[in-house]
Amino acid sequence: MPSFKTTIFADADAVADAVAAQVASTVKSHPQLTLGLATGKTFRQIYDRLVERFREGAFSLSAARSFNLDEYVGLPPKHPASFTAYMDDVLFRHVDLPAGAARLPSVAGGGSLAECAAYEAAIEAAGGIDLQLLGIGRNGHIGFNEPGSSFDSRTRLVALTDSTRQANAADFPEGESTPPSAVTMGIGTILEARQIVLVATGAHKHAPLQAVLSGIPDADCPASALHNHRNLHIFADEAAWSGIKI
Ligand code: GLP
Repeated sequence: MPSFKTTIFADADAVADAVAAQVASTVKSHPQLTLGLATGKTFRQIYDRLVERFREGAFSLSAARSFNLDEYVGLPPKHPASFTAYMDDVLFRHVDLPAGAARLPSVAGGGSLAECAAYEAAIEAAGGIDLQLLGIGRNGHIGFNEPGSSFDSRTRLVALTDSTRQANAADFPEGESTPPSAVTMGIGTILEARQIVLVATGAHKHAPLQAVLSGIPDADCPASALHNHRNLHIFADEAAWSGIKI
């Protein structure tokens, strides 16, 4: 049975506070959970708040595990725009998640079939994802599942659209552009998470958010697959929410 809840806040700051509070309380009551982690601008603020709560002693990640949604292919391991560097910078180096317990898709082999299958197997061996944090691309992508992705897709090598590459170009040093490909968990992988927290802030997230809520599955908008999830909690701000029709 689809089941979703929406909570709307005045602005992105208030959303970040609420999402961090929700994650902290979920981890506190279930310290051995497996988290699915997202990157992107939206999540920088959320991880900042989460780190503040960690420093206040609200929770510990010492017994938890995490799997990130995606990683670019073709960047040197220490590249500042890699999602590996992002996660170290905003979260991992500030909290007590054991080093070996935090994983991102391996891209050392160029996103080979074996690497992708190993990531799926590792998620399964961990017992699946308990709480998946998710942002949304302006074209409706989730993870790096671009429009046209199959709703039962699994972790795989994907080509990024020009619009996604442009949206993320500012993360790269001058003279460099967003890589053309990435490894991402599939939509099918994401939908298997026991709980999903979807965060949408800013007017540019209005259209993809409307697609999630309309209930019409549309391959052109991967996020529309979320509508039928059994435990989806949407956190949005007024700018993304204003004018939404359910
Ligand atoms: C990215 C990521 C997604 C993220 C989305 C939105 O490139 N692969 O996981 O949710 O785009 O990012 P932002 O928060 O920067 O708008």
